[in-house]
Amino acid sequence: MTAPPGTTPPDTALVRARALRKSFGHVEVLRGVDLDVEAGEVCCIVGPSGSGKSTLLRCINHLEKLDSGQIHVDGELIGYRRVGRKLHELSERHVARQRSGIGMVFQQFNLFPHMTALENVIEAPVRVKREPSGEVRTRALSLLDRVGLGEKADAYPGQLSGGQQQRVAIARALAMRPRLMLFDEPTSALDPELVGEVLETMRALAEEGMTMIVVTHEMGFAREVGDTLVFVDDGVIVERGAPAEVLTDPKHERTRSFLSRVL
Ligand SMILES: Nc1ncnc2c1ncn2[C@@H]1O[C@H](COP(=O)(O)OP(=O)(O)O)[C@@H](O)[C@H]1O
Ligand SMILES: [Mg+2]
Repeated sequence: MTAPPGTTPPDTALVRARALRKSFGHVEVLRGVDLDVEAGEVCCIVGPSGSGKSTLLRCINHLEKLDSGQIHVDGELIGYRRVGRKLHELSERHVARQRSGIGMVFQQFNLFPHMTALENVIEAPVRVKREPSGEVRTRALSLLDRVGLGEKADAYPGQLSGGQQQRVAIARALAMRPRLMLFDEPTSALDPELVGEVLETMRALAEEGMTMIVVTHEMGFAREVGDTLVFVDDGVIVERGAPAEVLTDPKHERTRSFLSRVL
């Protein structure tokens, strides 16, 4: 679609990544990645191991520095500020503030083992955002309820199954009231029988309108919950589209060959 003369097309994407490049040593892991994710969209990212999926997610909340390119979330440049034509990295404090609006859930749940589920959920809003602990506690209890763990508020991670721990990790990320949630293979470390409960929690979150970028090998989830499916290979986005289309009728040989191995 072309915009009428004299107007610029609306740029509504919540996440706008442009020309991202990132190397580790001599290996270029992201080789010019553009990604747009609209508010409320569930964007699933699939691709072979080592293709750069985690690095891409980590760049979006500036856990990795970029070599070049830019990421905007909700119109805000992530990790850098512009001075003239140059970009300067933001201070840790500024980065932490930006990160507080972006929830991240990892394959390994990374809960604090010496804290109860409730304490894990309460920790960041109180420590990072200095919110009143009474209010945060009420919100944390309702979040634990929402992920189906209202009864487990006082349990320690060691007393919870992997699926339960991952749901606590999701509640913990939500406690910061993020505008965007990043999931990096959230079910890959789980026993097969525990995968469904975590995907169900993520589906409910998607239905409530959360903007989500989900790196996953769960093609069923991508097809049913994803609005878009992005196939990454060797540091580039090879193909993207509606999940049902990409999964049943991939346009590129590399996508086809990857899918034939995983489906
Ligand atoms: N901190 C790092 N230092 C060096 N190499 C890294 C680092 N992080 C990732 N890599 C390398 O970058 C490549 C892409 O990694 P990653 O983004 O984790 O891929 P994926 O998540 O798709 O499996 C891999 O070859 C990996 O070994
Ligand atoms: Mg990874």
